[in-house]
Amino acid sequence: MSDSASLNFEGKEIKLPIITGSENEKAIDISKLRSETGLVTLDKGFKNTGSTTSNITYLDGEKGILRHRGYSIEELASKSTFTEVCYLLIYGNLPTKSELDSFEHRIRIHTLVHEDFKIILEGYPSKAHPMGILSSLITSLTAFYPESLDPNRSKDLVDLSIARILGKFPTFAAWSYKKRNGHPIIYPDNSLDYCTNFLKMMFELPSESYKPNPVITDALNKLLILHADHEQNCSTSTVRVVGSAQSSIYPSISAGINALWGPLHGGANQAVIEMLDQIINDGNDIDKYIKKAKDKNDPFRLMGFGHRVYKNFDPRAKIIKKAADNVLEKLGVNDPVLDLAKKLEKIALEDQYFVDKKLYPNVDFYSGIIYRALGFPPEMFTVMFAFGRLPGWIAQWKEMRENKEPLGRPRQIYTGEQTREYKDCLLYTSPS
Ligand code: ACO
Repeated sequence: MSDSASLNFEGKEIKLPIITGSENEKAIDISKLRSETGLVTLDKGFKNTGSTTSNITYLDGEKGILRHRGYSIEELASKSTFTEVCYLLIYGNLPTKSELDSFEHRIRIHTLVHEDFKIILEGYPSKAHPMGILSSLITSLTAFYPESLDPNRSKDLVDLSIARILGKFPTFAAWSYKKRNGHPIIYPDNSLDYCTNFLKMMFELPSESYKPNPVITDALNKLLILHADHEQNCSTSTVRVVGSAQSSIYPSISAGINALWGPLHGGANQAVIEMLDQIINDGNDIDKYIKKAKDKNDPFRLMGFGHRVYKNFDPRAKIIKKAADNVLEKLGVNDPVLDLAKKLEKIALEDQYFVDKKLYPNVDFYSGIIYRALGFPPEMFTVMFAFGRLPGWIAQWKEMRENKEPLGRPRQIYTGEQTREYKDCLLYTSPS
């Protein structure tokens, strides 16, 4: 097979190298295009642009394949714990028992946060969205650990920052929820495993101690694993671009949290539950909402449907749908929203509009239903997505640095005014 592609432009032929990935996927390397032809490429929304080469996650959107470091998402979700997957993503291999013990120990000793964070938290209005609180608390870590601002200082310092953010993230996430509820914060309990510790900080009340429930801990591990990485999506690309300016890990990840918040990305899980509740409150008229979703003049979209890269099915959605049934049954929860979601999915999958546009349920379609059954309110769903995505962001930020990638800085095609004669606005009178 040819190792270059030819481009003819203004009578000149130039050869562009073909780059082949380890799964035989191919890309045209256009890095010399501009110097040889003066052209740039234009691809709004980066729909067909590879921004990097990466060893972390392989995804085939046509076949519905997702693998991290070579391991299938199905196996990881059924056999691993979330901390094992964190180690795998960040350090490249599944840990041995002693590597895992030492990794979990390093995280555990950083679960506590400085008492001054409570003062920051107090300053927020009680109805502040937890995603906004979370992103600013993560950036605020730079104030408490100023040495982290220079990620070039040492590898040990980067590893320390990684352990700190993995340790403190669940504490911040739980505290942002307590803030919203007006309940006292709960301190970490390091005798517990990573996920149970988080659940205790979320749900324990001074009046009622938290009793760990293995069904809930297992479901949380699975959900976090399913969100752990997804190659160059909107938030991860944001983390890499911010990090490419040599920004340190905390602000880079905080930027990822903000990108994830949007309803077209991680914010979709909250939007799905709100949409399903709206349909129920509106008399369960599914057809009306299917019609709205298909109407070009209506901004309504079927939330939790469609994906930039999956055009057949989202393998995570398959696992989550099964897990939703299982969790609700084991917890004895009967949520009419699950029945509605299944009906809506069935109707949409048979509708020509959705079939033609290859719109399938994505990971967010069922995740909110499980989170609700586990006791999380909708405004925490995207926080839970961020919690799961944390190791992916860390791994991608670390890889980008280790590969010494250049500053992320796309080009554009300017379409505005050409040079205009300057007129002082006081003298300028608009034509009547
Ligand atoms: N409901 C109705 N129509 C849709 C939907 C939807 N959920 N998603 C896409 N379409 C239509 C678009 O209107 C467009 O139609 P057109 O070709 O006639 O203009 C076509 O399908 C392609 O959609 P685009 O928005 O161009 O595709 P893109 O790849 O940019 O969008 C996205 C992907 C943003 C996920 C989109 O499918 C969407 O908005 N889905 C709903 C939000 C959602 O669930 N987001 C979570 C994604 S998963 C994640 O980030 C974790």
